[in-house]
Amino acid sequence: MSWYMDAIFYELYPRAFADGDGDGWGDFKGLLGRLDYLQWLGIDCIWITPFYPSPLRDDGYDVMDFTNIDPRYGALDDFQAVVDAAHARGIRVLVDLIMNHTSDRHPWFEEARSSRDNPKRDWYVWSDTDAKYGAARIIFLDTEPSNWAYDAATGQYYWHRFFSHQPDLNFDNPDVQAAMLDVVDFWLRFGIDGFRADAVPYLYEREGTNCENLPETHEYLKHVRRFVDARYPGRILLCEANQWPEDVRPYFGDGDEFHIGFHFPVMPRLYMAVRKGDRTDVIDILARTPAIPPGTQWCTFLRNHDELTLEMVTEEERQWMWQQYAPDPRMKLNLGIRRRLAPLMDNDRRKIELLNSLLFTLPGAPIIYYGDEIGMGDNIRLEDRNGVRTPMQWAADRPGAGFSTADPAQFYAPVIDDAVYGPPRVNVAAQREDPGSLLNTVRRLIAARKTTKALGRGELAFVLDPDKAVLAYTRACEGETVLALHNLGDAAIETNLPLAAYAGAEPQDLLDRARTWPPVEHEPYRAVLEPYEYVWLRLA
Ligand code: GLC
Repeated sequence: MSWYMDAIFYELYPRAFADGDGDGWGDFKGLLGRLDYLQWLGIDCIWITPFYPSPLRDDGYDVMDFTNIDPRYGALDDFQAVVDAAHARGIRVLVDLIMNHTSDRHPWFEEARSSRDNPKRDWYVWSDTDAKYGAARIIFLDTEPSNWAYDAATGQYYWHRFFSHQPDLNFDNPDVQAAMLDVVDFWLRFGIDGFRADAVPYLYEREGTNCENLPETHEYLKHVRRFVDARYPGRILLCEANQWPEDVRPYFGDGDEFHIGFHFPVMPRLYMAVRKGDRTDVIDILARTPAIPPGTQWCTFLRNHDELTLEMVTEEERQWMWQQYAPDPRMKLNLGIRRRLAPLMDNDRRKIELLNSLLFTLPGAPIIYYGDEIGMGDNIRLEDRNGVRTPMQWAADRPGAGFSTADPAQFYAPVIDDAVYGPPRVNVAAQREDPGSLLNTVRRLIAARKTTKALGRGELAFVLDPDKAVLAYTRACEGETVLALHNLGDAAIETNLPLAAYAGAEPQDLLDRARTWPPVEHEPYRAVLEPYEYVWLRLA
């Protein structure tokens, strides 16, 4: 039960993952052939980003048909085959549920915009002026001057929180509410395990508010939950709400809304901590994070398919993050940074591993972004967020990197080809063979995490060493305690950890069974941590 509480998630881009039919586009057939890899890695659940028919102006988040598959990925049968094969390997499957908006090429919108008295008109949000809801911020700042777009044919404006080609649906309309439940039902019938619900804060608009996290929105989301529970008990809903912890908290309701929700604000603070060699920002945001109901869970991540968002930091912190991590202006996008994990960490194995250790030991179910487990690079010459969505590098083989047998000119995007991050240096096949590779290290971290319930579900307590470069905490659950130690700094440190409460405990190293540690006594616990070193100890 509650498998998601301690699951390891993996986000994959179907277009980028593996091409099964040789046309240069990833597809379900390709994914099917790579499920063994995900099982080997220890993944419990995949989240497949959108594969619905789409003009792909927002990489599939602009949907033309909610209950079909873009033929470039295969057919409904191919999707069913992936779901079944994943389940046969003990891997669950989540797909994106995009409730807030459609593509402007969705038939619903084409009808709605055809005339002011079309029955579908009210499925979207129209206005005679562009002055309404002025307190709502603009999310895609680099491309959108307004949340309203003018429709010349009918002489009114329509509302859109994202690109102007993505009109927002009108959730005040009961037909829209019902239509979305039909979508939910359609995909659950394939036996999927749930949804990653996209952009949920923005479903409703109300004058005088910032049009985010409104009571009406929560009411509808609870309705979706009841619908799922009643017809498909056990399926889960994962919440994408890029908000402060206190504003995400209501998305868990009283355990009657989402099962699991991304923790956005902790993510940039992990990057701040490792750059500053100081734990303060991480501790502060977790201290500010409210408790969530039993049976609900946070979902943590280092990177995803979007820019590394800096929405949940102060203006000063944002400027600092850009200075540190986006030295080239092309690396910036909206309020974020469009780079991958390895380049952000200067391809320094110690720092990449340190961040992964934080991901796997802090509260929440971790999600890995495809390619980050091998340290893939990015391509800032590609526009928007495409630079972090390049083909998965399966092998050193030129030119297709094991991703596709097509002529690379036909690939949906070029394979990373620089000297440091190109397939000859970064690929799955070579790293699987090499016990010391990043891939094998990530696999060991996953396996070690699974030997203890404490890292999945344990209570968090910080252990405050006098040196702020030491980020140490315990996770405790059902009588088991795991102590995670991290040296965030670039110099070796001798710790002085106040562990008297555990006096008498004999630490067992979860990552290096052969390594021995002195027992815990009443005095501060002394251990030497090398630069960026991390250690996981079970306090037995
Ligand atoms: C979410 C997705 C992002 C998309 C946006 C609009 O934030 O993660 O990729 O562009 O929603 O659907």
